[in-house]
Amino acid sequence: MPEDTPNPFTFDIQFGENITLSSYDNHIVRHLSNMRGQFLDSEAYQRMLDEDDRLLYEVYEIHRPEVPGELLHGISIVHPGKVGDEYYMTKGHFHTVLDTAEVYYCLRGRGFMVMENPQGNWSVEPLRPQSVLYVPPCWAHRTVNTSAEEDLVTFFVYPGDAGHDYGSIEKQGYRKLVVERDGTPAIVDNPRWLPPEKR
Ligand code: 6PG
Ligand code: NI
Repeated sequence: MPEDTPNPFTFDIQFGENITLSSYDNHIVRHLSNMRGQFLDSEAYQRMLDEDDRLLYEVYEIHRPEVPGELLHGISIVHPGKVGDEYYMTKGHFHTVLDTAEVYYCLRGRGFMVMENPQGNWSVEPLRPQSVLYVPPCWAHRTVNTSAEEDLVTFFVYPGDAGHDYGSIEKQGYRKLVVERDGTPAIVDNPRWLPPEKR
């Protein structure tokens, strides 16, 4: 056993008007300006940004050493809203160590996890309180909040050495988009998406 192995610890997930952690190491914030090129309706994006660089999502993280035996964990909070017809979402990523998985437990809200693998296979799984989502190794993942008024809050756990690769999926976006159609969420094709052989 390495000598610098930490002592066990506990913390609380506090359910109030907002869901908070009793202790954490990092608070990451992502604003509209951090999402340039991610939403399909670039005119709606620019109009919103000209008005206000609003907060789209936040992550509270327990920091662990970035080594395979460790588990990074924390909560992710996607606020409600839309850019054009497309719901607020995280940027999404592959893990840099591609074959690392992740578990999400949904604490509050409504939405989807939009996923795809390097072969271009896709999967969109619903998230609702108490649902557990398993993202297998090699699948890029993005959280989408489809509620009009509530935050989408998830607890996540993934290997310490996984890292984040945002670039690969950024260029053509995800194969599927989650948009509002006739007042309800719909999963539609992304017209900008290219199959792997055409990239
Ligand atoms: C991770 C998790 C998760 C994710 C956040 C924000 O691997 O770190 O998937 O914590 O980072 O939900 O999403 P983005 O990292 O895609 O901005
Ligand atoms: Ni991840």
